Amino acid sequence: MQAETVQKKRMLSGIKPSGELTLGSYLGAIKHWSARAEEFDCYYFMADLHAITVRQNPADLRRRTLEQLAQYIACGLDPQRNTLFIQSHVHQHAELGWVLNCYAMFGELSRMTQFKDKSAKNADNINGGLFTYPSLMAADILLYLPDFVPVGEDQKQHVELCHTIARRFNGIYGEVFKLPKPYVPKVGARIMSLTNPVAKMSKSEDADSGRVLLMDPPEQIMRQFKRAITDSDTENCVRYDKENKPGVANLMTIYSAVTGKSFEQIEAEFAGKGYGVFKPAVGEAVVEALRPIREEAAHLMKDKAYLEGVYRAGAEKASREAEKTLRKVYKKVGLLAK
Ligand code: TRP
Repeated sequence: MQAETVQKKRMLSGIKPSGELTLGSYLGAIKHWSARAEEFDCYYFMADLHAITVRQNPADLRRRTLEQLAQYIACGLDPQRNTLFIQSHVHQHAELGWVLNCYAMFGELSRMTQFKDKSAKNADNINGGLFTYPSLMAADILLYLPDFVPVGEDQKQHVELCHTIARRFNGIYGEVFKLPKPYVPKVGARIMSLTNPVAKMSKSEDADSGRVLLMDPPEQIMRQFKRAITDSDTENCVRYDKENKPGVANLMTIYSAVTGKSFEQIEAEFAGKGYGVFKPAVGEAVVEALRPIREEAAHLMKDKAYLEGVYRAGAEKASREAEKTLRKVYKKVGLLAK
């Protein structure tokens, strides 16, 4: 019996609570994560230590961290089957982050595009944390020896640097870290901004731009979809052509993700109907898909004791795993045991 028990592969990811979750984070990531709970041993955390690399309002950060947990659960991440925790509650992240800082090179960190972008955006606060962000992210990952790390395109460079750091460390001290693969879900919808369909839908966009938040009320969602950019062409035809009609392609991707319909089915459904019918139909489908999530998240936010129970249990389990790796690392590098 025992020999037949196959150890599940492990998956880990995090999202910074620096903005509200968007329709893009749901359709592109969280929805797929919740479908993985059977197959993988899953760890998901709110990366609050990463959020403070940019100045945050403390009360807002606390609120958003808890809301993010409630929204994860409402999106289907069952705390009984996934380990959900808050990064700062597991002290091993910061500790391993420091050690890995000593194995991440100045040149490597300087080449990170996210660092360059964020430095340009926050020219008055180019702090050390922003620079060493990838070392902490490497620690988040390596502590748990995961097989897969689902991340968006923009985080791949950080996962690669995590590999470089892990390989360097293993080269000196032996096989301590396992190198995880970035995991891009096969059906992973990449949702773009509704007003600028060549850019990713981002939580840091302005409220009045092309992003839809998970918690937006239905009227707001409808408004966003009605004013979504379609095309500059005069064709007025719902047809999938990502190259020439990125706005329509994006709306079709969203509609397909929330209804399960294929692009051909969508083209047939809206044949001869035009954008004026298509845009509100996508809006309505999104409203219906998000309604149960919004209601469940709001309900969970009223039950602080439940949420506390979830994140405490999550941190306890995560911390047990993380501690094993941290002990090994401390010993390897020559820190005297307590
Ligand atoms: N840097 C990621 C982001 O901005 C969040 C993150 C922090 C993360 N640590 C991680 C993602 C570890 C995957 C694994 O989206």
